[in-house]
Amino acid sequence: MAREKWNSKLGFILAASGSAVGLGNLWKFPYETYSNGGSAFIFVYLLATILVGLPIMMAEIFIGKSTNKNPIGAFKTLHPSAWHIIGWLGIASGFVILSYYSVVGGWTLRYFLQTLTGAYLSMNQEQVASDFGSFVQDGMAQILFHTVFMFMIVGIVILGVRKGIELAGKILMPMLFIILLILVVMAIQTSGFYQSILYLFYPDFSKITTNSIIESMGQSFFSLSLGMGAIITYGSYMQKNEPIIKDAITIVFFDTMVAIMACLMIFPILFTFELKPNASIGILFSTLPLLFLKMPGGIVIGPLFFLLVIFAALTSGVSLLEVVVSYFIDEKGWNRKKATIVIGMAIWILGFPSALSNGGWSWLSGMKWIGERNFFDSLDYLASSWMLPIGGIFIAIFTGWIVSKEIRNESFAKDHDGFYNVIVFLLKYVSPLLVFLVLLNVTGIL
Ligand code: TRP
Repeated sequence: MAREKWNSKLGFILAASGSAVGLGNLWKFPYETYSNGGSAFIFVYLLATILVGLPIMMAEIFIGKSTNKNPIGAFKTLHPSAWHIIGWLGIASGFVILSYYSVVGGWTLRYFLQTLTGAYLSMNQEQVASDFGSFVQDGMAQILFHTVFMFMIVGIVILGVRKGIELAGKILMPMLFIILLILVVMAIQTSGFYQSILYLFYPDFSKITTNSIIESMGQSFFSLSLGMGAIITYGSYMQKNEPIIKDAITIVFFDTMVAIMACLMIFPILFTFELKPNASIGILFSTLPLLFLKMPGGIVIGPLFFLLVIFAALTSGVSLLEVVVSYFIDEKGWNRKKATIVIGMAIWILGFPSALSNGGWSWLSGMKWIGERNFFDSLDYLASSWMLPIGGIFIAIFTGWIVSKEIRNESFAKDHDGFYNVIVFLLKYVSPLLVFLVLLNVTGIL
């Protein structure tokens, strides 16, 4: 059977944006910004995205597009040597990330139901916050919602590239953007808006810490879906001979916009209601119900918003699963149905300890795995701070040093020489070196 392809270029851009825009932007970025001092984090994040994220985005699209293969097959085709180990690392990352990602995806399902039934209407702000706390400690509910979320992802991936993934991106991405805009406009009108603008954008370089640099780099990889071959896989469904610069810039721009908009929507609420710093991983969930309570039409927009967060999470989760599935289809000759179901089940099971580690099972939530982190946080740390950056370094080195000529021929229009030189320079020297320094730091060597 012929390998599948996107219907159109726009279909690719929206699907890749669908992969990039997800819980990383709406849930993770705001709480990392919060725990790393606001504007300082946003500043290093933007820097990391331009110097590391954008070039690697191009590198991944190129690797996929020029080979039409899954991450492992793609490296094997471009260069028959040990490079395909990067592909393996990517497949492992897909497994790890989706297992806990789906747990948070489950939270969005539950918040959709809660806002739909008006459960928050009678609550005050303490109750809204403690509602999140008791929900994550409810083991049964955690497993249930995680299971439903995995089901939905498996359902989309089974439908295939055009009928499942591309269609989902085309419908959901534009809607998400519009709703976000409405919410930002609402948040602007709260009294905490001015304070949050200062907090988010007034440069305060003294607040830059090693931790914010490390986390911003990992977050940039995570948010842009880089370092594990998700974009390689999506690139592999592109038609040949299309320049990729504009696509890459569009996806990166869109993803960054959504992350910043998420902050513009959440922080004014945080300041207006003087919510406690311990909002951390619950920040998205314990602030928004308050916004919906205050705004006219909130009773409609509330569920609508969570529906869109669900969609954002789904289109990202789909890309995580698709990486692993495409490998089993291309290299092992499985059909799509078998690959999707078998792998979906395996990831579902791996998600259990994450689902139960935020309080569901007390003995498990008391257990520390990496440093002070519980199981859920340890997987996120392992993936975002290690697996994705390591994958990213090698992808950059591979494209910058080994196949850079091919990139020029395949993916850059003739009049883009200057841009090409900059990108190759970044891929050769800047991105690998920066990521490497960050890794040395994570290990405590630096
Ligand atoms: N980028 C997505 C988000 O921001 C998550 C994601 C999807 C991802 N595919 C990925 C992260 C591949 C790393 C690698 O929510």
